[in-house]
Amino acid sequence: EIPSLYKLYEDYFHIGAAVNPYTIKTSKDLINTHFSSITAENEMKFGSLEPEEGKFTFEKADEIMNFAKEHNKEVRGHTLVWHNQTSDWLFTNKDGSLTDRETLLSRMKNHIDTVVGRYKGQIYCWDVVNEAVTDSGENILRDSKWLEIAGEDFIDKAFEYAHLADPDALLFYNDYNESNPVKREKIYSLAKGLVERGVPIHGIGMQAHWSNFHPNLDDIRQAIERYASLGLQIHVTEMDVSVFNFDDKRTDLKAPTAEMMEKQTERYDQFFRIFREYKDVISCVTFWGAADDYTWLDGFPVRGRKNWPFVFDENHQPKESFYKITSI
Ligand code: XIL
Repeated sequence: EIPSLYKLYEDYFHIGAAVNPYTIKTSKDLINTHFSSITAENEMKFGSLEPEEGKFTFEKADEIMNFAKEHNKEVRGHTLVWHNQTSDWLFTNKDGSLTDRETLLSRMKNHIDTVVGRYKGQIYCWDVVNEAVTDSGENILRDSKWLEIAGEDFIDKAFEYAHLADPDALLFYNDYNESNPVKREKIYSLAKGLVERGVPIHGIGMQAHWSNFHPNLDDIRQAIERYASLGLQIHVTEMDVSVFNFDDKRTDLKAPTAEMMEKQTERYDQFFRIFREYKDVISCVTFWGAADDYTWLDGFPVRGRKNWPFVFDENHQPKESFYKITSI
């Protein structure tokens, strides 16, 4: 009998998985047994929920909510404001020109009211703003239509609207490369500003799209400590551990090599040791999927390449990494 991952971690943090309408069928038992929290992989993004102004399409999101209810899972909502997977109408007028700040903010408010309002009391936590910080240059914020049209305080507004729509929901800022020293400081100063202005933010999401090679453990520790120093809680929101290094573009592997698996096991062991060490500030660890038969990393960022980033294999069997992270 294989022990339940989330039950073994009950004294530490919730264990989550990103799901979609396909995997709640194909990985139903696995998700049920090992994960206590779920996140919709794409179905609650702006473009999925409001493809046309005022026309909301909740069918797929509701399917996931029903799964959660039926199986007693918590739900992390993902994501209200992002530069990707967002419909073009949001930023434009009927004649195709860029819209103005007032219109954009009122569209944002209507979207957040409708979505957060619909799932009030059912989604305990939202990634309110996703990936607003830039990876390069001196600026803190990335260039985006949100920034261009509404200005820097679009972030404050998103959190304020979300808080109004569900005052009990935990509100998170979520980003990747979160452990990189330069980006970490940018995320920190963004969050610090929010906290100092009294904006309702409760946590920072570290996406944790990591690999056998990146990032190094010390950078992860420093990121956790820096974010936690603001009095915010931390969720690991999208964890996967790619077996490939950045410059490895091989597409011919049908299975991971023994060396890759050994390295990945070691990395998972190290990552989860750190998470356990910081259990007072980390309250949820979500994987961006459940098992190696389905991952968004299949074909990304290298087209035609399979990846094996989880602790369950393609047949939903526990990998060595599973046994490592559960020997606690
Ligand atoms: C990804 C999904 O997994 C893919 O299916 C989709 O094609 C693109 O988006 N950061 C995020 C997630 O915040 O929403 C992204 O999810 C992965 C990177």
